[in-house]
Amino acid sequence: MNYQRILEQVINQTDPLVAVGHQADYIPALAEVNPDQRGICLHTLSGEQYAVGDSDVRFSIQSISKVFALAMALSLEGDNLWTRMGKEPSGTAFNSLFQLELEHGVPRNPFINAGAIVMADILVSHMLDPEHDFLAFVRRLAANETINYNRLVAFSERSTGYMNAAIANLLKYHGNIHNNIERVLQFYCMMCSIEMSCNELATAFLPFADHLRPFSFGGVELTSSQVKRMNAIMQTCGFYDEAGEFSYLVGLPGKSGVGGGIAAIHPQHYAVAVWSPRLNEKGNSVVGMKALELLTTETKESIF
Ligand code: DON
Repeated sequence: MNYQRILEQVINQTDPLVAVGHQADYIPALAEVNPDQRGICLHTLSGEQYAVGDSDVRFSIQSISKVFALAMALSLEGDNLWTRMGKEPSGTAFNSLFQLELEHGVPRNPFINAGAIVMADILVSHMLDPEHDFLAFVRRLAANETINYNRLVAFSERSTGYMNAAIANLLKYHGNIHNNIERVLQFYCMMCSIEMSCNELATAFLPFADHLRPFSFGGVELTSSQVKRMNAIMQTCGFYDEAGEFSYLVGLPGKSGVGGGIAAIHPQHYAVAVWSPRLNEKGNSVVGMKALELLTTETKESIF
């Protein structure tokens, strides 16, 4: 498969879309990113790497961090995790409040904000310095010690994140947050603020594509069965109320973030990450969705 040529074609074909959509501005610091950037990077299990465009530019991974949080929370809690949240697609926006109220403070899944805030609470309960341990894990997974939080982005989100504060309060009311709300939100915003490039994200997601091997990075241990199940949750819940559309158009497990990144895997084949800051109305990258749709169409490779 000539992935390099295919990635070049795929990116060229997204030309008409680069100005479509709007970058996230509900986190003020994200509104300052140059929206005219795009990059894609694909790493295969056999060790080949292909990249096009701004694939080495770091961006705010935002909700893609929820995959790393799930790996940590699952390794610490095992199946007990599912007493604190479900694993069903939500069909609602990533920051939806009404479903959480109807369902008595039990988030539908780990990839909506409510689920990730509960995971942040779990990590705060288990670790003396969750910010240090989370970053150390991501650095190990991406094989890059220079990856870091962007404290300005984290602060920008924390000081304006009224919906997440509402979610955290509702969770606390129902007994599903055990620590101080402010502490949990602070850590949640830090996780979201990590900056990585497409290249680094492709490296970090490759172990999820390699799910037949046990997962062991920086003290985070998962069985191959657990990694398989994480991929299933990416498939069904990785794109909020657009999970069905992404599954239909792309056919790979993946996770998006409002920084405009999407990371996806083809189990036993490759990990791919794409980035372009302008988002559709569901909060997913317009160019990113299209590029991955074209990739699986051109290669005729998807899980279906
Ligand atoms: O909590 C938030 O709203 C952001 N830090 C993350 C949301 C996000 O990335 C949803 N992704 N599509």
